[in-house]
Amino acid sequence: MLSAKGLRVYLKGIEVLRGVSLQVMKGEVVCLLGRNGAGKTTTLKTVVGFYSPQEGRVELEGRDITFLPVHERARLGIGYTPEDLRVYPWLSARENILLAAKVAGRDEKEAMEIALSTFPELEKLLDRKGFYLSGGEKRMVAVARALVQRPKYLLLDELLEGLAPVVAQRLSTVVRRVAKEGVGVLAAESNAVLAKALADRVYVIERGEVIYEGSVEGALSREDVARAIGISA
Ligand SMILES: Nc1ncnc2c1ncn2[C@@H]1O[C@H](COP(=O)(O)OP(=O)(O)OP(=O)(O)O)[C@@H](O)[C@H]1O
Ligand SMILES: [Mg+2]
Repeated sequence: MLSAKGLRVYLKGIEVLRGVSLQVMKGEVVCLLGRNGAGKTTTLKTVVGFYSPQEGRVELEGRDITFLPVHERARLGIGYTPEDLRVYPWLSARENILLAAKVAGRDEKEAMEIALSTFPELEKLLDRKGFYLSGGEKRMVAVARALVQRPKYLLLDELLEGLAPVVAQRLSTVVRRVAKEGVGVLAAESNAVLAKALADRVYVIERGEVIYEGSVEGALSREDVARAIGISA
């Protein structure tokens, strides 16, 4: 289990997270749902290791990893696809994936097998530079790159945001399959409809606080929660 317990995070003197707690088990897809500025990215970055909390802890299978550096958490099995993806524009899709394999000390052949069995559609795009990939293709490369490191938990920051519905659905299907194979997925989302298709359960975050935990349907049936995610109940 990957868990955040009472995370309080200040950025430039502002309290951005006010005691965020959540848990992700292996094999499930959990969405962290909230509006722009609610604290989703800050929560993910604190779990991944880019921010240190003033209070609270991050635990991986019961081990306190709150102050471990990012690369050590990655080595322990925390994968991350940031909001801006970080697909290198002047490297090909293949080079982007192989670079991740190299950094993680993984075999190149195995890395390409993982990438292409996850997204067979990348095969014909392998020589294309990141710059020339579409938004959906870039996200596939970014997810493939995270999977090459064989994470136990995968954190996705607004992976489905702004994609054509058919592409969003394709990525959702893949993420659900990855979870089914045993990875715990924590996906930040601002769109409740996308979250519904993706998640086994959700946490709703508002102004740095988790105000709801449960099913998407349950969230929408509560007026205050629905309002927090921008849907009128
Ligand atoms: N580096 C930073 N320094 C100061 N304040 C920040 C920083 N990053 C984020 N914030 C503030 O913290 C709050 C939460 O931001 P965060 O990026 O975590 O929200 P989010 O839920 O991911 O939003 P979005 O949907 O826009 O991605 C916002 O008010 C934001 O302005
Ligand atoms: Mg964000």
